[in-house]
Amino acid sequence: MNKQPVGVLDSGVGGLTVVKTMLAELPNEDFIYFGDTAHLPYGNKTPEQLMTYARSIMAFFGRFPVKAVVVACGTHSSVTLQHIINDYPVPMLGVVKGAARSAVAATSNGRIGVVATQATVNSGTFTREIKALCSDCTVVEMACPKFVPLVEAGKLDDSDTRGAVKEYIGPLMDQGIDTLVLGCTHYPFLAPVIAEFTGSQVTLVDPSHATVDELKQVLLNRALAREVNENPQRQFYVSGNQESFFTVGKLLIGDVIQKVEQVCLD
Ligand code: DGL
Repeated sequence: MNKQPVGVLDSGVGGLTVVKTMLAELPNEDFIYFGDTAHLPYGNKTPEQLMTYARSIMAFFGRFPVKAVVVACGTHSSVTLQHIINDYPVPMLGVVKGAARSAVAATSNGRIGVVATQATVNSGTFTREIKALCSDCTVVEMACPKFVPLVEAGKLDDSDTRGAVKEYIGPLMDQGIDTLVLGCTHYPFLAPVIAEFTGSQVTLVDPSHATVDELKQVLLNRALAREVNENPQRQFYVSGNQESFFTVGKLLIGDVIQKVEQVCLD
């Protein structure tokens, strides 16, 4: 069982921020990545649509089968995970709880900003999770619909990106935040530009670190961790166009992406 892969899912290349941390922290694990690019962006989808996508991806992971699933997507972690987590025989981890813990640990003034997709903001999940840990904290959420298309196009640092950062993060700075949760997994790829805008007085929280720590713990506790692996297998699947995922994915995380296969789940 410990030789089975870990499933990692997102709408597109965003979950690669979690993959990057997994490669550093859990280098012996095989994984299957699924980018649901046919349905991207998730941010403008309804909870019902997202539920359908989540169940199809879980059925796909069942074919391998995987030993654990990382919901490397803020939107699924906020909207669908709580409804499906008990329906599958494998541990499923999202990115929200860990990010909430990191944000509460990081803040000094108790004013926390969260940038995420519209669907995530609508769910109020980040605010609920942060408030559960720190009832005195003030949480300000901001939907950033321009960010995902920019990251998917590999535009990490051009004038459009800088304009969008100013548009979305400016109002959060005006609220006096000292901590900013990058609550959509695409956004840590924009962290250098965001950090340049916020300056060093704002701590940026990349949810991948707490999520991968939690995954490590879960795998160890259940005797599922892989200690040695001479030839780790990393497989990448998408539901839409595989060429753009291949090109942009390589730009974002390098040669670990050797091949991308398209699969139709509908
Ligand atoms: N990366 C995803 C998230 O963390 C989905 C973004 C999108 O497709 O809108 O929310």
